[in-house]
Amino acid sequence: MRILRTPQELSQTVDACRVHGQSVAMVPTMGALHQGHTSLFDIAHEHADVVVATIFVNPLQFNNATDFDKYPLQFDSDIQMLEQHNVEFLYAPNVETMYGSQFSTSVHVAGITDVLEGSSRPGHFSGVATVVAKLLSAGRPDVAIFGQKDFQQFAVIKRMVADLDMPIELIMAPTVREFDGLAMSSRNVRLSESARTEAAAISQGLDAAQEQFATGIRDTTQLIQTVETAIGSTDTEIDYVKIVDSVSLKEISVAIHGSVIVVAVILDGVRLIDNHILV
Ligand code: PAF
Repeated sequence: MRILRTPQELSQTVDACRVHGQSVAMVPTMGALHQGHTSLFDIAHEHADVVVATIFVNPLQFNNATDFDKYPLQFDSDIQMLEQHNVEFLYAPNVETMYGSQFSTSVHVAGITDVLEGSSRPGHFSGVATVVAKLLSAGRPDVAIFGQKDFQQFAVIKRMVADLDMPIELIMAPTVREFDGLAMSSRNVRLSESARTEAAAISQGLDAAQEQFATGIRDTTQLIQTVETAIGSTDTEIDYVKIVDSVSLKEISVAIHGSVIVVAVILDGVRLIDNHILV
């Protein structure tokens, strides 16, 4: 695997792939890779000849400095994982390269960034949109892969790519879960043993709501209550459980196939999010 450090190197590498008739998939990450990420690399290989992963812990998307400082860094083991999954290129710029001292641009996607994660993390999605716009414009991949776990992030990036006429296909990869259903996240390692056990209630609640939906229940108040009851029996503080339209992210009162249950909780001081698309 070759490591690229500047947007010029990334751009030239992708150009060279194109000259050889190869299509390119990009998988943006912030490192601290786990199986949730490696599944993205595998899916990327199904969609393109060459896979470019990116690792950049983006200061712009952390509205809380402690969260940024606590973000796990494990570059050496990340590289091993990338190589095990046959990723051809890693783009890993430093902060200075990504945002020079004169950097003054922000990409803001209006509306859908004000709700859910956006209301508790002001500025977060502008940070995400700005860095992803930079990665996509330097790399110009044919396809970019993001995980469903960050459903709102996917919706924001999709809106941005459409609004900015970026000719890039976006693929949402299914959430990879631990043995007990907890969505994989680099934050899970921060949970105490007991909190880690309790965290399984989130996906159990989502599954219970899906079962109710399958029996014909469409009233979102009832479905939300089911999720909250599952989570509420633990020490978990619920930030929100909502059922939203998958594109506008507006809350709905009657669920339909494709509506999304979104959850954010704080457990042991760790913010965990999850979601389920009703089928
Ligand atoms: O999902 C992430 O890891 C990050 O938000 C992303 C998309 C790499 C942007 O920094």
